[in-house]
Amino acid sequence: MTNTVLIIDFGSQVTQLIARRVREAGVYSEIVPFNQAEGAQERLSPKAVILSGGPASVTEMGTPRAPEWVWASGLPVLGICYGEQAMVEQLGGGVEGGHSREFGRAEIEVTADCPLFEGVWSPRDRDQVWMSHGDRVTGLPEGFEVVAVSEGAPFAAIANEERRFYGVQFHPEVVHTPRGAALISNFVHKIAGLPGDWTMAHFRTAEITKIREQVGTSRVISGLSGGVDSAVASVLIHEAIGDQLTCIFVDHGLLRASEAEEVVEMFRGAYNIPLVHVDARERFLSALDGVADPEKKRKTIGGLFIEVFEEEAGKLGGAGFLAQGTLYPDVIESVSFTGGPSVTIKSHHNVGGLPERMNLKLVEPLRELFKDEVRVLGRELGLPDAFVSRHPFPGPGLAIRMPGEVTVEKLEILRKADQIYLEEIRKADLYNEIWQAFAVLLPVRSVGVMGDSRTYDYVCALRAVTSMDGMTADYFDFSHEFLGRASTRIINEVNGINRVVYDITSKPPGTIEWE
Ligand code: XMP
Repeated sequence: MTNTVLIIDFGSQVTQLIARRVREAGVYSEIVPFNQAEGAQERLSPKAVILSGGPASVTEMGTPRAPEWVWASGLPVLGICYGEQAMVEQLGGGVEGGHSREFGRAEIEVTADCPLFEGVWSPRDRDQVWMSHGDRVTGLPEGFEVVAVSEGAPFAAIANEERRFYGVQFHPEVVHTPRGAALISNFVHKIAGLPGDWTMAHFRTAEITKIREQVGTSRVISGLSGGVDSAVASVLIHEAIGDQLTCIFVDHGLLRASEAEEVVEMFRGAYNIPLVHVDARERFLSALDGVADPEKKRKTIGGLFIEVFEEEAGKLGGAGFLAQGTLYPDVIESVSFTGGPSVTIKSHHNVGGLPERMNLKLVEPLRELFKDEVRVLGRELGLPDAFVSRHPFPGPGLAIRMPGEVTVEKLEILRKADQIYLEEIRKADLYNEIWQAFAVLLPVRSVGVMGDSRTYDYVCALRAVTSMDGMTADYFDFSHEFLGRASTRIINEVNGINRVVYDITSKPPGTIEWE
């Protein structure tokens, strides 16, 4: 039985980071929204509970609370920010709103020994933490003592050692609290007494058993995209059920240079996994003919993809399950306090829509993992390192990296520029520092001079970003020398491009892709 730490989500933007920090300490964790936490004890048999931060105020009626079982279970509990305030309020202490807002970096002073601080801080130590709160604790419930203070939060950390209840007003899960990860590790190891034995090898074995139980003797089909997630999911499923799995790889003609060959070679050659390779390049390109609107492009590609996939799956004579490389961040519904629908920024393309149409059930073996954990699992399964550390690539491919119409000519130009750019990044040993890097072909021509002749060619934009999860991103700070080198090579070697620019937009307000 896996030792699980239950994280009850009160809607903080950084709840997922708590789960990461717990798993980095070698302990499995799951996030459950507060309004589904009632049955979580029975379902997960957690060995410890962490209450996340959140945007609400416990001083207001109807705001979230932890279920009563949390306090009666005898389990150790760590409340973070709003979680601390909920703990205090529910156990009979006082919380006040309003007058002492603290946002960003703050300094705490440790005032007493506490198992949470063991090996990290001693009394009178001062250290940097990250705060983000408008309310503060003003009176402690019975049995608690203050173990750290800050200027805006006289109850910056509190403890009831007998019941193993701890609360921190700051956020130990973010990197701006430099020793925060050590506090979370202390909570799960020293306070909850859990061993740090959760590894990917562990996960692999447990997941294989689960897949076998779920699938039985049914046939499973899997859509390979050329990306890491669908590849890792497929290799894992193949390990579980062998040739009951068939992979379908649809080449829509919008892939990067040599991508299709690499995927086919790896699956058929190295793994001997049954693979249907569909060359649908013509079909996609003619469907995209004359389509310039970004959403229309995405919808055309998504719709056609489903059509082709469905046809191929039909030829296999029916399947009971569809495998998908869904990751944890896609699964967790962040708790919505407004209840309103979120705005569609872009229609993401995956094989969504198929399961209902084809009456398929889903197998999603990665749905509990973060992207970097999927990479570790991929290596564990023996996938080549160069493949596993690949940058993400969007389903609609190069079509959304060329604003305006998609043409064969533009695709060829873009492929070459992209290949040179990535070659230079690899040569400079920067590939693994970057979340995603790619070239974009702009629908703009500019005048240049090459040799003694005038040119009138396309402009290419280079994009590179750092990110934790693709939700927010910063542009990558290349040296001017690097940018100069990449730009010179692209202009010299790619016919059709005579100008290169570097995109320095972060997300938000930009998005990573251009469309
Ligand atoms: P944006 O452009 O929204 O992208 O900032 C965030 C991340 O998602 C990837 N992306 C996609 N991935 N299908 C995918 O599988 C899609 O339709 C899609 N659109 C964007 C993008 O490459 C980045 O990593």
